[in-house]
Amino acid sequence: MDIKGSVALVTGANRGLGRALAEHLLNHDVARLYVAARRPESLDGLVARDSRVVPVPLDLTDPAQIERAAVTAADTTLLINNGGSLAFADPLAGDLAAIELDLRTNFFGTLAMVRAFTPVLERNGGGAIVNLLSLVVFGSVPAMGGYSASKAAAASATQALRAQLASRGITVHGVFPGAVDTDMIRAFPIPKTSPTDVAAAVLAGVEAGTENIFPDPMAEQGYRSWRTDPSAFERSMAAM
Ligand SMILES: NC(=O)c1ccc[n+]([C@@H]2O[C@H](COP(=O)([O-])OP(=O)(O)OC[C@H]3O[C@@H](n4cnc5c(N)ncnc54)[C@H](OP(=O)(O)O)[C@@H]3O)[C@@H](O)[C@H]2O)c1
Repeated sequence: MDIKGSVALVTGANRGLGRALAEHLLNHDVARLYVAARRPESLDGLVARDSRVVPVPLDLTDPAQIERAAVTAADTTLLINNGGSLAFADPLAGDLAAIELDLRTNFFGTLAMVRAFTPVLERNGGGAIVNLLSLVVFGSVPAMGGYSASKAAAASATQALRAQLASRGITVHGVFPGAVDTDMIRAFPIPKTSPTDVAAAVLAGVEAGTENIFPDPMAEQGYRSWRTDPSAFERSMAAM
């Protein structure tokens, strides 16, 4: 897909990777950029900066807001499902409500966005959907086992949607980052890639038509390890 001239929508655009994606999209000459966030006031810096930027109030757990966003952003051709939550809750003893919230946000929220925006993209002649998944899809990290499951569910849906939407002129991309230097894993003292570098790699992958994007060195290395020895990779992720 040619990003230049497209109309993009990014969820969770107020901070972290979403913010970096929004900034890169502006530099890629998008025609319009919808920046979606739970708290629209957290988008002020972006909105004031460029007349192409349009704020959209959006909580991924609120189906009515998602439907309204699809009406507001009716000219979208590139949907980036970036917003996500991470609860440090393990499957055995972790807080079930926290695990459920990760599923509602990362799986059901992403799915609801795709369902609401597919007719929009179709009406606009096709386009692309980008789902932010994670390397934990290939090997669960027990301390965030609920989150890992939510991303694995979203990855599975990404495959199904790719098959369903190909004939409608919509490409579906899965992104599997390793550790990115944002608030989400601020407490983890491991090497991380900057959100700016990850955002650049994501958009390069979309432009190249890459279905599964591994946008940083940890992701590339992890995917190579998984292909070589899935069980060894599973054990290494479980030990994190
Ligand atoms: N950081 C990593 O190492 C890493 C690795 C692999 C994948 N990812 C994925 O990359 C994406 C971006 O993560 P990040 O690192 O930028 O995390 P982040 O800094 O924690 O930002 C998360 C973003 O998602 C938004 N969000 C959370 N729950 C939401 C909801 N219910 N409705 C709408 N927006 C919601 C947040 O909005 P508020 O400001 O309102 O909270 C924020 O904008 C996520 O899908 C994450 O799972 C991250």
